[in-house]
Formats: sequence, structure tokens, C-alpha cells
Amino acid sequence: MASRQLCADFLGILLLLTHSVSEKFSLSGSPYPVVGIVGQDVVLPCQLLPRTWPVDTEVLWSKIEGTHSEAEYVNVHQYKNQPNMDISGDNYQRRTEMFQQEFRNGNVSLKLKRLHVTDAGTYICFVKSPTWSHEANTELQIAAAAPVFIDVLGPQGQGIGLACRSTGWFPKPELQWVGNKGQSLALESKIGMTQDNESLYNVLGHVTVPGGEAPAEIICIVRNGLLKTERESAIHLSDDIFPHTSPWLAAFWISFMLLLLTNGAWAFRGYKEKQKVSQKKRCEEDALLSLGMFPAFLLFLFFL
Ligand SMILES: *[C@@H]1O[C@H](CO)[C@@H](O)[C@H](O)[C@H]1NC(C)=O
Ligand SMILES: *[C@@H]1O[C@H](CO)[C@@H](O)[C@H](O)[C@H]1NC(C)=O
Repeated sequence: MASRQLCADFLGILLLLTHSVSEKFSLSGSPYPVVGIVGQDVVLPCQLLPRTWPVDTEVLWSKIEGTHSEAEYVNVHQYKNQPNMDISGDNYQRRTEMFQQEFRNGNVSLKLKRLHVTDAGTYICFVKSPTWSHEANTELQIAAAAPVFIDVLGPQGQGIGLACRSTGWFPKPELQWVGNKGQSLALESKIGMTQDNESLYNVLGHVTVPGGEAPAEIICIVRNGLLKTERESAIHLSDDIFPHTSPWLAAFWISFMLLLLTNGAWAFRGYKEKQKVSQKKRCEEDALLSLGMFPAFLLFLFFL
């Protein structure tokens, strides 16, 4: 009887002890999402408090894959205090690393290298000792930005066609054309977006800048809302490159048309009086006609 009582007391004390040991520790990830850049490395924080390293502690980093109802845990990195037990998960070969020299400070953060768009998601840092275990979540968001280029497509109607292109953005970027003093251009622009085999976005914008009131400089801005960064490219459009009609050429065509009209009127009058007039008079009129055409012909040569 006494021995059973003793046993129960002992069990209670043991439970209390493990409970208090577990209470003593806490684990924290990042309270806000961590943003990583495609192709670069990122550190997913995980910190044990107090900053110690209890004996026989194990760490398992995993990622939640799939939808909420069919979520599964994918092994990202595992550490055990045994030989050869600091290993990357199958899909993360040579892409993960833990900072072993930081363990004694309770720092069990994970370095994830050469990021892909598909690395975005929720990561779980699970720390286990023989008497307790804790886990902490950190969300990783992935972003990418790239250089922006402007191409001059050439004359389009009375204006100049421009294209703005950039490849390798994530998430979906925004494209905007602005004038030199930052004024947004009331130009009709077309924007096309495609996604490459690594889920990065390629953006292509088209615009026709009209001649005349066009600003000297046109800037194409591509913006990443997640990174709050933008990349841009500017082009200087001199007035000469616009395909405008010269005022002299217009004046020539107007006078040429006028001359044709007057000659036409003369010819018509000549036809009406055809029967009455003598051969001689008709010759005179023919001469007049050709005289009338002559200055127009000269002008034409001049403008050619
Ligand atoms: C853990 O150590 C790594 C490498 O020194 C460092 O980048 C990271 O900021 C540390 N994390 C914390 C939570 O102190
Ligand atoms: C995407 O395509 C490029 C070639 O265009 C190739 O080098 C790369 O390995 C491909 N990536 C994937 C994830 O399929």
C-alpha cells in the first residue's frame, strides 16, 4: 500500500518535472513573413530561449506542401547529435545548412540557398529533446526583379512605337510609362505578361508616343509590390525622329493641286469653245496650258 503511494508520488513528481522542464524553454520563428530573392540565399530564423543547447537536442526543419486539407510535411533539413546526421531533405540537396557553431546560443536557424519560386511557403522548425519538444512556424515569401529595357520599334502613324521588356519577375509586376518630370502619360499602352518554366513573369509593354507635344524623355517603370522596389529604363526622344510632314512639302502639294485645278478649268473652257475657235487659237491655248504646268513641274523637281 505504502509502496504504491510512493510510486504514485514519484510519478507525479516526474510529470511535474518534465512539465516544468518543457515550460522552461520556448521557441520562436519569425513573427512576420521572411522575403527571399530568387537565386539568392535566405536565413529562416528559429531561436530557442533561453539561449542554451540542452544535451541530445534534435532539430527537424520541414515544409508544409499541398492544400490545407491535403497538407503534408516535407523534410527540408534534419540535425541529430550523431555522426552524419546534419542532412538536407531529398528535394533540398546541397541547398540547406544549419549554423552548428550557433547551437550553443540556441540558434537553430536554417540557411536555404539558391532560392526558387517554389520555395515559398510555411516552414516548421521542430526542436526535440528527450524530455520536451517545441515547434515554430515561419513563412517564406519569394520575390524577383530584373533589369528593364526599352526598344524603339519605329514610326507608327504620326508617332513612334516603343516597347518595354523585362524578364524574371515575381510575383506579377506592374508596368507604367511616365514622362521626364514624373508626369504619368495619358498614352494608350498594351501590356502582355507570360510566365516561364520557373514561374517567373516576363512583361512586355507597347506604347505609341505621338509627335508634337511628346515629352523629351519617356521612362518605363516596372514595379514589384512585394519588394516595394522598381526598375526603370529611360529613352530620350528628339523631335527629329518623329515622322511629321514638313510645312514646305505641304505648301508644295497645295500649290500643285491649285495649278492642276486652274489648268483643268482652262482645258474645260477650251473644250467648250472647241468648235468655234480656229486651229491657231487652240495652239495658243495648248501653249498656255503647258506654260501653266511648267512652274509646277519645276517646283516638283525642287522638292524631290
Ligand atoms: C543565427 O545565426 C545566423 C548565422 O550567424 C545569423 O545569420 C542569424 O541571424 C542568427 N539568428 C538569430 C535568431 O540570432
Ligand atoms: C527552364 O528552361 C531552361 C532553358 O530554357 C532550363 O535551363 C531550365 O533548367 C528549365 N528549368 C526548369 C525548372 O525546368
